[in-house]
Amino acid sequence: MTLSGKRILLVIGGGIAAYKSLDLIRRLRERGASVRCILTAGAQEFITPLAAAAISGQRAHTNLFDREDEADIGHIKLARDADLVVVAPATANLMAKMAGGHADDLASTVLLATTLPILIAPAMNVRMWQHAATQRNLATLTSDGIKVVGPNDGAMAEAEFGPGRMSEPLEIVAAIETLLTPKGALAGRHVLITAGPTHEPIDPVRYIANRSSGKQGYAIARAAAEAGARVTLVAGPTALPDPAGVNVVHVESARDMLAAVEKTLPADIGIFTAAVADWRVASAAGEKMKKMGDVPPALALVENPDILATIAHRTVERPAIVVGFAAETEKVIEHAQQKLSRKRADVIVANDVSAESGVMGGDNNTVHLVSASGVETWPTLDKGEVARRLVERLAHMIETRKS
Ligand code: CTP
Repeated sequence: MTLSGKRILLVIGGGIAAYKSLDLIRRLRERGASVRCILTAGAQEFITPLAAAAISGQRAHTNLFDREDEADIGHIKLARDADLVVVAPATANLMAKMAGGHADDLASTVLLATTLPILIAPAMNVRMWQHAATQRNLATLTSDGIKVVGPNDGAMAEAEFGPGRMSEPLEIVAAIETLLTPKGALAGRHVLITAGPTHEPIDPVRYIANRSSGKQGYAIARAAAEAGARVTLVAGPTALPDPAGVNVVHVESARDMLAAVEKTLPADIGIFTAAVADWRVASAAGEKMKKMGDVPPALALVENPDILATIAHRTVERPAIVVGFAAETEKVIEHAQQKLSRKRADVIVANDVSAESGVMGGDNNTVHLVSASGVETWPTLDKGEVARRLVERLAHMIETRKS
């Protein structure tokens, strides 16, 4: 029972390989998984919803606008209530729709709405597979974090030969087992990350903000997920897409961010990369502020809660490792050391954010790891590499602490 208790949402696309998906359902259930199916219109030309329902033991879903379907579970819940989404067969058309973000039927809408990990098993004619458009879509999907199994080489329905045959059900089952078996340095850990700026309202249309792009925090979320962690990313407003396989909670203000962070505890590791606004307007206006005579309004500011310090000072449910970031324009190490003790963090990742450094909004970062055991300066690396190294280091720290 390698998949005991696992919930699979199986999206069946319209190709001759759809008949193999029925066998896939059976194999998954044999291993303890529950399977819920969505059939595209094309899939229903090859297999029936009744067959999928009979083999899966659950109603098969076909229509975005079906009142009964929506009353039963609803397409957004369908996109959430699973551990993994599997698209098999993933036709050229379905892959193109996924890569382009289309949502014109139940399958594509659920695929766009889901934040769950996705595995696709492509199946199509060899020329369609080799076409530049499909290969471009494949590259987009893999860079979005979508996992791919197959296709295999072999004889095709059209008496052609080459890559394009859907992987066999047992190969797809093996790929699913690999994806759902926690592995990696942070397997079984919950990592909480804050990222991005916060917006502090002045009135309903204006706010105070800062130049943080959120890139470093998002990169850490991705790296932690790749290291097998369950990741919750509490993000202020950014222009970045949600990383695949990460639970993203979107917030606006510092106070919302603190509330969201407290709600996600307990966590094993807390990484606070957000550029939280230090101050907010004491009482934001309920209506848009109008110009009044020649005198500009004065904004009275009050201090925001310090999210990192609040969490690091907790006596219950304090993450075993609390990591802060220090954005400094001068005396980088000295200020970071002060923050380490003042905020009671275990590690401060200090970086120089002076305008010349290009860190704010840029792709590279030069960081210093400041902790009780000293200071370690890393070479200039892109933010993805900083993220991977940091995750590796934190995984090692938490392992050695435990023993
Ligand atoms: N931080 C936080 N909540 C705040 C302010 C900061 O969680 N209200 C966190 C940041 O996410 C970061 C660390 O604290 O991990 C350092 O933030 P920084 O702005 O550099 O520190 P400040 O405490 O604001 O100090 P200063 O502005 O004096 O440099």
